[in-house]
Amino acid sequence: MNFITLPKCKLALSRGLEKGNTEFTLKDWVTTVYDADSRRWLSINCREGKELLMDTGEDEEPFEKAFPICAVIREEIDAGPPDLNALVFNVDGKVLCRSTDPYDDVTPGTHYAPLSDYHIPAHTKVLGRDELIELERLIAFVDIVTPVASSSPAQERLVFKYYQYVYGIAGNWNSIHIGAKLSDHPHIAPVRHVIVDETDRSRVVGFTMPYYPVDDLRTQSSSRASRPFHLKLKWIQQLMRTVDDLHLKYGVVHGDLHEGNMMIDPATDNLVLIDFGCAQKIGTPQNHYHHRAALTHEPPRAPLLDIGEDIKHVLHAVYRLVTGIIGGRSDGNGGFIVTTSAHIREGEWVKAPNVTLDHPIEEYQSLCVNWLRARNAGPRITKHCQASEPLDYPDYMPPPEVDIKAYKRELADPNLRPRYQPPCEPEWEGLLEDMRGFGWSWEMWSAEWIKELRGLPYATSGRNFLRRKATAAGLSVLGWERPLTAHLDRTRPLLANGKYQDEYVGAGAAPTTQRKRKHSAGQENVVDQDTEQDGDEHGGRTLDSEGVTPTKRVTRSATKKKAGNAGPTPCEPTRKVAAPKRKRKAAPSKAKE
Ligand SMILES: Nc1ncnc2c1ncn2[C@@H]1O[C@H](COP(=O)(O)OP(=O)(O)O)[C@@H](O)[C@H]1O
Ligand SMILES: [Mg+2]
Repeated sequence: MNFITLPKCKLALSRGLEKGNTEFTLKDWVTTVYDADSRRWLSINCREGKELLMDTGEDEEPFEKAFPICAVIREEIDAGPPDLNALVFNVDGKVLCRSTDPYDDVTPGTHYAPLSDYHIPAHTKVLGRDELIELERLIAFVDIVTPVASSSPAQERLVFKYYQYVYGIAGNWNSIHIGAKLSDHPHIAPVRHVIVDETDRSRVVGFTMPYYPVDDLRTQSSSRASRPFHLKLKWIQQLMRTVDDLHLKYGVVHGDLHEGNMMIDPATDNLVLIDFGCAQKIGTPQNHYHHRAALTHEPPRAPLLDIGEDIKHVLHAVYRLVTGIIGGRSDGNGGFIVTTSAHIREGEWVKAPNVTLDHPIEEYQSLCVNWLRARNAGPRITKHCQASEPLDYPDYMPPPEVDIKAYKRELADPNLRPRYQPPCEPEWEGLLEDMRGFGWSWEMWSAEWIKELRGLPYATSGRNFLRRKATAAGLSVLGWERPLTAHLDRTRPLLANGKYQDEYVGAGAAPTTQRKRKHSAGQENVVDQDTEQDGDEHGGRTLDSEGVTPTKRVTRSATKKKAGNAGPTPCEPTRKVAAPKRKRKAAPSKAKE
């Protein structure tokens, strides 16, 4: 995922959410921020604030210039009101406008596929969000939790990872399948539970994995000035073997192999890879093209994530961990460090201060050289099916009916169709001899189609799918809000759905009128009124066979039938914040839909 959580102010920012400034002014910073504390979204307009976002330098934190403004945003959120939707301020941090107008609500909704769409192994348990107790909010979309049914909550700590917006769809799909199917692999964090919404208990919102109570390798390495950092050669060997397994055996590319996604399990002293949010089957389009590819059944003209990218990232990571030099970026003299194998072979490796190695530094270097040589001489895998034991799960999450309709409408309408610009041809860079890979490019991230799938306002694949639109149409969207930690009553367990356990009328109880909601086409978070719940006393239900629960099955045909019955979904006219004749408490920005 592409959010950066700023620890001090607990806000998460993403370049992907910044609004195109050409729409109104070149100078404002207009964006959506995610409050990783209250799990809410907020619209931000900082007048003349665009400069705050300019890159500060390669070794500095992204968004560093925006820190003072982020501190102001934090104060405003903490001071309330709880339904604050938008803030406007100037670059000095003076608040010009606060809005609680529902029209300014930028909370996105997204598609949560039915459990029956997933191919989950039988041993993977299923739990509702209301069967998890929050212990800590780690970063955006990641919590530490314990199952309500756990017999030893203090010991049984799990990480709960979920998604709240369209870009999380592919990450969740791939992470769950890879982590569940490879749960026996000693160096891959296993998926312990698939987590479903607590309303109809059929929609998959995320998953759990074990919590490793140590810092990831990036945090350990970057804190080495204050505490020594020990780097064992065996961890690097385990990392390389695991990447070989992923590529050559299972036909999967990780896609995000930096040190922040490498943990050491203190129980086994083994390296464990986490975060398969950018992973995919080799030969399928990059994660942000996932849903489009699912819609068209023909891969878009998008660059494929190449296994060379993983290899490059591993080599960069090892080089960084050992030398402390930010490999792959500037070496301080304006050059790039690890871009060809010659750099690894011939470059001088000097151990960083405060790093302890358990073998001579030359062994780390030769491990890299030999691994690269072996991979270059080994089999070329460009398609998932060429692997020796390819992981078997559907390439894409099946899109909901409403997205299929929106896509067809877009194709049929000459006024809508031109909005989709195929991504540029990728630029190939010679890299690591013939292990080629692409550099990261923002064009890929901001792929036009995902912004512009606007044929229907409830097309959950589109970035325009907002909670307020669904609410206006009488539909409900799964909520994720939590009380601010500063206001938490710590004597009462808080469930992962944001409700205190003692105030929550669980889904296991008889349905209340509050829990009965309508089904309607295009609404992906709607609630079945007649589903039952079964469970075991060990923290989850198990599936009877791959991807099928005995009582929670929601079939594609049922979804289609519902869609068919509901008739066409109305289009919402385009409105702007500055629309005339509207009574508004505040007008924080000229946010364009
Ligand atoms: N299972 C885990 N145990 C301990 N820490 C974890 C675990 N999963 C994630 N983290 C911590 O949270 C950070 C972000 O989690 P990650 O899954 O990588 O999310 P993202 O997609 O935002 O990068 C990791 O870099 C790590 O520090
Ligand atoms: Mg990560």
